[in-house]
Amino acid sequence: MELSKRKFIKNTLLSSVFFLSACKTRFYSIKKNGEGFSTSKITNKKGDPMIELPQLPYAKNALAPHISENTINFHYGKHHQAYVTNLNNLIAGTDLEGKSLEEIIKISAADKTKAGIFNNAAQVWNHTFYWNSMKPNGGGKPSADLLKIIEADFGSFEDFVKEFKNAGTTQFGSGWAWLVLENGKLKVTKTGNAETPLTTNAKPLMTMDVWEHAYYLDFQNARPSYIDTFLVHLVNWDFVAKNLK
Ligand SMILES: [Fe+2]
Repeated sequence: MELSKRKFIKNTLLSSVFFLSACKTRFYSIKKNGEGFSTSKITNKKGDPMIELPQLPYAKNALAPHISENTINFHYGKHHQAYVTNLNNLIAGTDLEGKSLEEIIKISAADKTKAGIFNNAAQVWNHTFYWNSMKPNGGGKPSADLLKIIEADFGSFEDFVKEFKNAGTTQFGSGWAWLVLENGKLKVTKTGNAETPLTTNAKPLMTMDVWEHAYYLDFQNARPSYIDTFLVHLVNWDFVAKNLK
């Protein structure tokens, strides 16, 4: 009799653990399609929207041979996804749950106790901006209107290229090189780790990820070759022009 009672209690506890675990999985995981990309709007158990991994603006092999599908699988499918998952876990049950990504970045940037939230939120935003900063058959010079603005603000297109390359190569360790609009003028900047111009007066127009995970599989340690490739074959000037409007 005593044995049956113990069995009953054990089974009840196991069922509860399984049920709670299933709820957690349902409410705090990203729904994926067969390719592992988020496709549907997801909410937490209160019905607040959660931060999602946005779809790539092109196929995973579309930037090859410059950036391989293998790099995209890791960079987008693992790194970017991890920032999304970490962020959702960190804000679950807090007053940041249900806020937009931009709001979360601004609030957490102003509060040193929320550094972990800021790092993950800013990395989610920066990566989405980076994917859009590239396109298949991109690179080279922009259209005439944008070229004129670049020449006016940098002296020449070649001077812009020199400055952007310099920002990318001299960013010590992990970070980002940016083309931004600040006080009505185009400017090249760089940020370390997850830092983003979103927390400044500058408006981001385009970015290049210089974390090692962005180029190591395709370029090994040759960051300058990756930067050259980004400028010659990948940068999406249409995206820059759209952001300038
Ligand atoms: Fe990255």
